[in-house]
Amino acid sequence: MGFRCGILALAVAGLVVTGVQAAETAVPPRLNWSFAGPFGTYDPGQLQRGFKVYREICSACHSISLLSFRNLADHGGPGFTNEQVATIAADYKIKDGPNDQGDMFERAGRPADYFPPPFPNEQAARAANGGTLPPDFSVIAKARTYERGFPQFVIDMFYRPYQEQGVDYIVALLGGYEDPPPAGFDLPEGAHYNKYFPGHALGMPKILSDGAVEYTDGTPATAEQYAKDVSAFLMWVAEPHLDSRKRIGFQVMIFLVVFAGLLYFTKKKVWSAVEGHA
Ligand code: HEC
Repeated sequence: MGFRCGILALAVAGLVVTGVQAAETAVPPRLNWSFAGPFGTYDPGQLQRGFKVYREICSACHSISLLSFRNLADHGGPGFTNEQVATIAADYKIKDGPNDQGDMFERAGRPADYFPPPFPNEQAARAANGGTLPPDFSVIAKARTYERGFPQFVIDMFYRPYQEQGVDYIVALLGGYEDPPPAGFDLPEGAHYNKYFPGHALGMPKILSDGAVEYTDGTPATAEQYAKDVSAFLMWVAEPHLDSRKRIGFQVMIFLVVFAGLLYFTKKKVWSAVEGHA
């Protein structure tokens, strides 16, 4: 009896603790993404706008070490032409060398180069950001996730896994600042209160404001729209082959259905002789 009571008490305590944690960090709202669901695809216009936001704002602190300029023209991506990619690459300075004299030198970027990092090393990045490190963006949209809580996680387990948690989180984070922080919260020096960041003390200041990036396609130039576009761009960076993965998955499903039908008729034919003798 005592043992059972103990287990019950533990279970209740566990529920209480999870409840308290859930109440602490806000759950990012679920958004609609063009690339969600089994038939989702990226919207090239959105990826181009997101790239612009990254390039003009986020790239001051965040690297994308696994992305090369020529990827911007890849199928299923932002859809830049090779000429546009060459122009974008040429805007960047790339460290190269050593030359015949043994010296390193700088040259204009070429499509095959990778995006250069904003800081020469981790120490420099931390020194410029109050001791915190701006993470690399190569896989961040897939690396960040959060608990969706009951009953969503049961649905996720049996239905299909929800794959847009990372982008929902980034959008929420970029707009999740509160200044001043809620009464009673002890914010460390140099940190910024963000209700979606675990622990709430974020090293990154509020970055986006309306009108900071110019859009030429008529999309509203608001902080919220920038956040969505840059997050979609980061999703593409983290999963560049999503479009073809979903297309091939669908073709495989059709193939399996047809194949199952063929097997059924083959089975009927092969066994028909046996059935006849019965
Ligand atoms: C002034 C520098 C700076 C700029 C500009 C900047 N960030 Fe950050 N960012 C940081 C720092 C520093 C951190 C690490 C904060 C920490 O760990 O407390 C960070 C962390 C993040 C994180 C990770 C949060 C987590 O869960 O760990 C994301 C996502 C992010 N930034 C997105 C962006 C996006 C998108 C942009 C452009 C719209 C951007 N940042 C622009 C400095 C910057």
